[in-house]
Amino acid sequence: MHSFTFQNPTKIVFGKGTVSQLGSLTEPFGKTVLLVYGSGSIKRTGLHDEVMNQLQSIGAAVVELAGIEPNPRLSSVKRGIELCREHNVDFVLAVGGGSVLDASKAIAAGVRYDGDVWDFFMHKAVIRDALPMGAILTLSATGSEMNGNSVVSNWETKQKRSFGSQHTYPRFSILDPTLTFSVPRDQTVNGIVDIMSHVFEQYFSLTADVPLQERLCESILQTVIENAETALDKPDDYAARANLMLCGTLALNGGLISVGMANDWASHGIEHEISAIYDIPHGAGLSIVFPNWMKYVYNERVERFAQYAERVWGIERGSKSDEDMALAGISATRAFFTRIGAPATLSFYDIGEEHLDVMAREAVLFGPLGNFKKLNQEDVKEILTMAL
Ligand code: NZQ
Ligand code: ZN
Repeated sequence: MHSFTFQNPTKIVFGKGTVSQLGSLTEPFGKTVLLVYGSGSIKRTGLHDEVMNQLQSIGAAVVELAGIEPNPRLSSVKRGIELCREHNVDFVLAVGGGSVLDASKAIAAGVRYDGDVWDFFMHKAVIRDALPMGAILTLSATGSEMNGNSVVSNWETKQKRSFGSQHTYPRFSILDPTLTFSVPRDQTVNGIVDIMSHVFEQYFSLTADVPLQERLCESILQTVIENAETALDKPDDYAARANLMLCGTLALNGGLISVGMANDWASHGIEHEISAIYDIPHGAGLSIVFPNWMKYVYNERVERFAQYAERVWGIERGSKSDEDMALAGISATRAFFTRIGAPATLSFYDIGEEHLDVMAREAVLFGPLGNFKKLNQEDVKEILTMAL
């Protein structure tokens, strides 16, 4: 196990009805709030009214930024920064899924920076300060509710890039599983794949002697698998939605489940290049990329893949070799994604070979991807080709 430092400052308020605590949670941060949300789900569900009532109860002035896109755009982030400056905003409140939360973090950091906020995403500047932000999560997927990461798309340059900072952790996140009852089936599926993928990025590691971290990862994967189909068949099943929500938050909250381990993140890097050009949902892209990445790299540490097959999918060893086990585990992953309705190939989105070279080149812009196996441009292109 490697030495590590872990700090996560986000207060999690979890459970049915917890939006009623929004006023008291927000009050310490000031009187002018930028309320950030997406294209309308929070109005349809009545959450917008509830949020406004809570903010009115503490006498807060509310400035609204609606219309944050899935795969949030840099242009929306810049609009938010302007609004904050114009109205002297003290606090950014994100109400929505990962896209709304990520845009809000970029806004919060951008307000306190004189240069172009895109600098943070291009590694040209480091975040030294940010407005405080908080969140009400409405979709279980990204873990953005308890981490300092933001992923934003620059539509002009066709780039989707991320930053991570200690300054952009939400001060609090309200996690009420009933708010996810209205998430459509396809977005629930995307969220399930994303949660599992976050665990994969940490679990498939060359770091030895980390049995607790391995079991934390395996137990999240098992819990997601056990609850996925219930949440899809019965969207208002509280237990299933609550379990998925907790899994999503723990799967990517600054690396608690993989402390002391080298992480990978190559598949996320590859997926972001697909979304950057084709604007497909993140989870759907991961469903296409991850099983192919697994096939491409499993030989680097075949026994880890064999363990995954045995412990997560319950595949019996019998007389199987590690390689047979590994391949069975990869097939089980693909079969599960397909069973819940996640896509398997780029052709599902009519994506062909046209931009594979650009995607492969951009994926390694800041150096080789991943750790389990270091991937260069040719490797990325090979994985994308396998995914066609
Ligand atoms: O815009 P609205 O109307 O809110 O609709 C959204 C959106 O269309 C809808 N939705 C959300 N909650 C709902 C709901 N519809 C009905 N009822 C609800 N309760 O769902 C759609 C997708 O929302 P989005 O926020 O885009 O989804 P998700 O949470 O999957 O976020 C995806 C984004 O997060 C990034 C991805 O790359 C992508 O840009 N990621 C962020 C990470 C992070 N910050 O740590 C890590 C991830 O790996 C990921 O890269
Ligand atoms: Zn993800």
